[in-house]
Amino acid sequence: MTIHATLPKAELHLHIEGTLEPELILELAARNNITLPHPTLAELRAQYEFTDLQSFLDLYYANMAVLITEADFADMTRAYLRRAQAAGVRHAEIMFDPQAHLGRGIPLTTAVGGIESALAGSEAEFGITTGLIAAFLRDETEESALAVLDELLAAEAPIIGIGLDSAEVGNPPSKFIRLFRRAREAGLRLVAHAGEEGDASYVSDALDLLGAERIDHGIRAIEDAALVKRLAADQVPLTVCPLSNVRLRAVDTLAAHPLPQMLSSGLNVCVNSDDPAYFGGYVEQNFASLVAEFGFGTDILERLAGNSIRSSFAADARKAELL
Ligand code: HPA
Ligand code: ZN
Repeated sequence: MTIHATLPKAELHLHIEGTLEPELILELAARNNITLPHPTLAELRAQYEFTDLQSFLDLYYANMAVLITEADFADMTRAYLRRAQAAGVRHAEIMFDPQAHLGRGIPLTTAVGGIESALAGSEAEFGITTGLIAAFLRDETEESALAVLDELLAAEAPIIGIGLDSAEVGNPPSKFIRLFRRAREAGLRLVAHAGEEGDASYVSDALDLLGAERIDHGIRAIEDAALVKRLAADQVPLTVCPLSNVRLRAVDTLAAHPLPQMLSSGLNVCVNSDDPAYFGGYVEQNFASLVAEFGFGTDILERLAGNSIRSSFAADARKAELL
């Protein structure tokens, strides 16, 4: 096996709904008697040509219609963990979109219960320790997010933190100041997507206004030299997703991806798969593409894998075990 598949690593930027493979979508649709707009594998697969973030989000939300029961959420999560194990992932911090399920009439307890039942067995079954992060949809209101956070807290949902995802541009961090304050007061860890399609100000605002401890994507930070200096000095973790950025046209080509420049600027970057069922690969394919494109050697691969473990919210003892 190649080194990028065996190096112990943490996956920190992963949407569990984005691991729903087309085959599983059809299987769950059949199980739940749901008629899909693209009912065959060929027709469904033909939808996976994206022009930007929104064109992906439209399909990603539509495909969630097949997730109905706790067992559906558990099967999806277990399938990811099996793939992640093969990719050398030893710790995974997994986002899910509670509002996307509530909006379809699926109770929080169903989504959380199903995901958690798979995560509960993860360490024993796959050797992967896990944490669950509730990601809030930035194109919905802060009031909606606050109500869902309160519901999660009241239900004592087993989440370690909150994040911010979905349509970035026009939905800046300033919209979610109260949400992040409430989550921090509840003792939750804080992450946010920023600088994927949004400019560098989304990254600095996520740090300054929300207190984000980790930035998901962050690639457009590279456009602001003062911000790059700050991110390097503070070693702010950036969970970069190269294949996602190519498929959503955040970069023109992998060759044009800023990751090499981010590394040479001393940034704390790690490599993640984002929505692997949609973007052409799990974390080991992201590593393999980087090796093929940039010729990264063992030193860089070890640095990226080490960054992922150090940037995780795993217990210190677990980090020490993996480093
Ligand atoms: N960006 C924003 N929102 C998302 C993504 C992403 O890559 N994946 C799932 N929701
Ligand atoms: Zn993402």
